[in-house]
Amino acid sequence: MHDNIRPAQADDIALLCDLDRLIFGANAYNEEQWVTELGNSARQIFLAAQNRGFITVQSSGDDHEIIKIGVLPEYRRQGIARKLIQQSTDAAKRCLIDVAADNRAALQFYQALGFREIARRRKYYANGSDAVIMEKAAPHSGA
Ligand SMILES: CC(C)(COP(=O)(O)OP(=O)(O)OC[C@H]1O[C@@H](n2cnc3c(N)ncnc32)[C@H](O)[C@@H]1OP(=O)(O)O)[C@@H](O)C(=O)NCCC(=O)NCCS
Repeated sequence: MHDNIRPAQADDIALLCDLDRLIFGANAYNEEQWVTELGNSARQIFLAAQNRGFITVQSSGDDHEIIKIGVLPEYRRQGIARKLIQQSTDAAKRCLIDVAADNRAALQFYQALGFREIARRRKYYANGSDAVIMEKAAPHSGA
């Protein structure tokens, strides 16, 4: 299969920095932050097939929090992010994400995947945007 995600390794730091910069621009982590992310045992980092995107997930028990997800602009709307989330959170009973209220594409993306708003943090981001906290419970969890 060519469409499987793979866990990032220590020698993917340069790749992760490049992807992050191309996707998030000024909001990208620097190299030191990626080294810290990779060294954090509570974090899982996966790369999409052909390194077209990445996801970082924090798991604590049954809950998985999506910390960062992005796909290179030229490969969007091909189901890559959907696959990154499905494959990296398949063991989760509940998934959570904070999304900037002005990130329309991301809000629509999470809604399409079945996430629902459960709370807001007012003016959470530096530009004054709210953080929308979204949740998705696994169908079999009973949550
Ligand atoms: C949000 C993001 C990760 C989505 O990645 P993607 O690979 O394009 O998403 P998918 O192709 O898996 O989309 C799955 C579904 O989500 C919805 N969706 C995704 N992007 C959308 C958009 N821009 N507008 C409306 N709906 C969208 C659609 O329903 C889509 O299914 P469809 O293409 O069959 O209609 C991508 O746009 C991105 O990297 N954005 C910049 C970084 C970012 O904002 N990350 C999220 C921070 S919380």
